[in-house]
Amino acid sequence: MSFQVIGTGSAAPACVKTNDDLSEFLETSDEWIRTRTGIRERRICTSETMSDLTEHAAKLALENAGIDAKELDLILCTTVRGDYMTPSQACVIQKRIGATCPAFDLNAACSGFLYALDVAESYFFCKKVKKVLVVSSEVMSKLVNWTDRSTCVLFGDGAGAAVLGEGDDMLSLRLTADGNWDALRIPQVNGNCPFGEEQGEPPYLSMNGQDVYKFAVTNMAADLTYVIEKAGLTTADVDYVLPHQANTRIIDAAAHRLSIPKEKYVISIDRYGNTSSASIPVMLDELNRGGRLKKGDILAMSAFGGGFTTGAGVLRWSK
Ligand code: ACO
Repeated sequence: MSFQVIGTGSAAPACVKTNDDLSEFLETSDEWIRTRTGIRERRICTSETMSDLTEHAAKLALENAGIDAKELDLILCTTVRGDYMTPSQACVIQKRIGATCPAFDLNAACSGFLYALDVAESYFFCKKVKKVLVVSSEVMSKLVNWTDRSTCVLFGDGAGAAVLGEGDDMLSLRLTADGNWDALRIPQVNGNCPFGEEQGEPPYLSMNGQDVYKFAVTNMAADLTYVIEKAGLTTADVDYVLPHQANTRIIDAAAHRLSIPKEKYVISIDRYGNTSSASIPVMLDELNRGGRLKKGDILAMSAFGGGFTTGAGVLRWSK
């Protein structure tokens, strides 16, 4: 037994910043950002906290599933950094939505949503749960260096959630990890311990864009091929591909290697930028609320991110 998705939700901060807005204080341009990445604008938390976004997405997903928070048996929150080191973001949300079940955070960077689905699947398989909330929430705007044009233009803030119930719709899943802290990392904020030498790496995201690019292109096509085959399907059976939204050129390159028509690839990076682990559940919610999904549709998902990590899976839609 795996699970079925019974509800989805998403939330984004109100503030929209276009590429032109960024070029007011950075040496960049709409043309550079758009042609290199596909991003036109992103949402940035100004008055909202991550907890606000997470709560909003979670409540919408519960409403869509038609269940009360008290019915949840587990909450999994994926994020690279919650509002607090402790309590976890999952515990903050448990309180805010009025749930009473165990709750914990999971950090697999941009692959977090797929990692959480894998964890959830094990809980369902062991019959420890009947209803699980997975909520992926990221405030990347607080993690990038806004004087570094090579990274800050790429990211945005948002949250996406899915409520899972008993079922057999997760047809295949694959996770990988390949430790590498040179290509992409975000150092922790240091304390003020008076002993020993200061370890002073700034707490901002740093990235070797080309290394990440190569890793992503190689793995996205290979992972999708693997999970589609593992599900006993062919690329012709896939109705939608939900690729992690880091760069449309990465998606184009992966699409080029797979025989799935371009129209089946869902794109949201133009409006949100890279929202790390939130990108796939936000697209899932947009498809669901937009009435674009019908019973039996096959969704192929693929993510990659810091770690390096990758996650991919094939989900049948039966809501
Ligand atoms: N505006 C204008 N010029 C810029 C900007 C900018 N915002 N950023 C960099 N440049 C300049 C560089 O300084 C460089 O100038 P130079 O040639 O004079 O030295 C030039 O543009 C080219 O820079 P490159 O880094 O070679 O540009 P590239 O074509 O590789 O694109 C990019 C960079 C968009 C980051 C690309 O490598 C990429 O998308 N990589 C993958 C990144 C990614 O997926 N990150 C997230 C994954 S992990 C996660 O989601 C957390």
